[in-house]
Amino acid sequence: MPHNHYQDEQAQPEVQDCYLLPRTLSEQDRLEFQHYTFYRLLGTHFLAPVECPRIIVDVGTGTGIWAKEAARRWAQAHVLTVDSNLTLLRKLPRNCRVLQASLLEGLPLADGISDYTHQRFLAEAIPLTAWRRALTELRRVTALSGWIELVELSDQCLNPGPQTLQMQYWLRRLFLCHDIQLSFALELPERFTELGLVPQVRKIVAPLWGSQIGKLFCCDVLQALQHLQPMFTQYLGLAPEEVAQALSELPEEWERYRTSWLCIAIWTQVL
Ligand SMILES: C[S@@+](CC[C@H](N)C(=O)[O-])C[C@H]1O[C@@H](n2cnc3c(N)ncnc32)[C@H](O)[C@@H]1O
Repeated sequence: MPHNHYQDEQAQPEVQDCYLLPRTLSEQDRLEFQHYTFYRLLGTHFLAPVECPRIIVDVGTGTGIWAKEAARRWAQAHVLTVDSNLTLLRKLPRNCRVLQASLLEGLPLADGISDYTHQRFLAEAIPLTAWRRALTELRRVTALSGWIELVELSDQCLNPGPQTLQMQYWLRRLFLCHDIQLSFALELPERFTELGLVPQVRKIVAPLWGSQIGKLFCCDVLQALQHLQPMFTQYLGLAPEEVAQALSELPEEWERYRTSWLCIAIWTQVL
């Protein structure tokens, strides 16, 4: 069973979401590994030039690893962690509070409460039709002069080989079963602009090959795909052995083709 100190304290009501990854101990470990991998890629946990926030909101907090980092960095701030399901959540510092709620249903937070609203790796749980409301909600809870920051994965690769193309095809079909299009992450700058926000954008080319970072990211992506394996079978009818075979060939192919995965970071000040 995944470790979750909230589970023992209170019964969790059902909150609807479209999340496809499992909520297991191994996925908790992967998310924290991914957190440090992205630190190595970006050189920071915080891209927006936030100075002295009073309230920080982390939407889709998962294990709470980023919230923990923010709570340490700004010890005077209150950090509100929001997630539709608290199973992954680990123990948090004293200046953190936990809220179980879905971004898709609207956040139970007052207008302009947050000086720094953060969302990371939640794009894979937001259907196409829900994006506008989700972004409007992030802006609603953010104070004037406050910051919104998103870091998201896309489904685009640079230099994909045949197995990577196959895996991308499966991924697209799987997420489309929930009306989720991972490529939407790359459209976020335009969607921010439509809302009257001026986004600062950093496209992240995350290598799946070579060097230390390449090895870390390769490990992270491979494990995420392994964790999705039952979904490939459930939704697409693929045989587990077929998926396992394709996965086993990916690391060598990524090295050979020098494949990278495209991710995006966007931050903007609410003015
Ligand atoms: C990939 S994890 C990301 C965790 C964290 N942001 C990080 O960077 O480590 C996505 C998290 O979002 C949560 N989630 C999924 N759909 C959600 C929704 N509609 N509203 C709030 N949280 C959601 C999941 O339960 C999961 O904990």
